[in-house]
Amino acid sequence: MDSKQEQQPGTGFSPWRLSVAPMMDWTDRHCRYFHRLITRHALLYTEMVTTGALLHGDQPRHLDFNAEEHPVALQLGGSEPEDLAACARLAERWGYDEVNLNCGCPSERVQRGAFGACLMSEPQLVADCVKAMRDATALPVTVKHRIGIDRIESYEFVRDFVGTVASAGCEVFIVHARNAWLQGLSPKENREIPPLRYDVVAQLKRDFPRLTIAINGGLKTLDEIAAQLLKVDGVMIGREAYHEPWSMAQWDSRFFGAGDPATSRDDVEARWLDYLDRVHASGRSWAYAMRHALGLWNGTPGARRWRQVWSDHRLKTLPPREVAAQATAARRGQGG
Ligand SMILES: Cc1cc2nc3c(=O)[nH]c(=O)nc-3n(C[C@H](O)[C@H](O)[C@H](O)COP(=O)(O)O)c2cc1C
Repeated sequence: MDSKQEQQPGTGFSPWRLSVAPMMDWTDRHCRYFHRLITRHALLYTEMVTTGALLHGDQPRHLDFNAEEHPVALQLGGSEPEDLAACARLAERWGYDEVNLNCGCPSERVQRGAFGACLMSEPQLVADCVKAMRDATALPVTVKHRIGIDRIESYEFVRDFVGTVASAGCEVFIVHARNAWLQGLSPKENREIPPLRYDVVAQLKRDFPRLTIAINGGLKTLDEIAAQLLKVDGVMIGREAYHEPWSMAQWDSRFFGAGDPATSRDDVEARWLDYLDRVHASGRSWAYAMRHALGLWNGTPGARRWRQVWSDHRLKTLPPREVAAQATAARRGQGG
């Protein structure tokens, strides 16, 4: 095994065995801190940050994170090898555990910048980017991509993409198991309409047994994750983790042979409140952080009332503990 692909400390499993997907506007540092209260071992990805934003913008705003978030991977959007190399260096300096290149985002804004999913039609450019990043950092450099773009359904397309990028040294591929249709669909539709084809990802693993191949797209339950882990090296979960955070409660025991960090939702809520207190005390908006936790009680009686209290704009200037008391009372049917 390459020195860039060490096993997860303490568990002996691949770092990519289970991860929470990069999601713009969602997986910010608050969200990742919240997820860390529920799973200690899943790898957490940042939102995509473009090379332009990093090189010309507010680096601490884009890069700062809480030490508790480890292991945490920075996802980059870009297509200039030199810029990506500079950003990979920043990722290392800031203490990230991995740097990931986005080759799967279909948004038009991203296409105009000539990166994201449209990079899949330029495998040699992606290979050059990966090589430049690898030369710039000792961190693992990984790629997240789709199984094809537009109506290209041929397996050879994605196989050759992976082969070319692997020849530049990339050893880890996270594959969203559907095409990106670059015209006519919104990014949201592009996560729902192009059909999922898990068999393509399993075939990649068979054809490239030495690479780490993780699968992504539409997976939710523990059993679905377990079934995929028989075929590929890792599973990445996006929307289910975000909307139903308690679905991660048994990830560590089931998939990492470790203890689960929280035994109850109350447990998570108590520790999350400590965090919100700190956010509030520092003068920042706790509501901005709290939006990521609104699904905590989903599926239990009173969850909707709890969420409504936390989302009430009139309460957003109160200390979070006061809102928590109201939300809990509402959840238990004692008011609200
Ligand atoms: C709100 C939102 C934002 C997303 N932003 C990114 C992103 O910044 N980078 C990326 O590679 N994928 C992004 N994705 C795609 C997810 O990483 C993932 O590939 C996709 O949601 C499919 O996985 P899922 O079915 O488990 O959600 C985003 C998805 C959502 C829902």
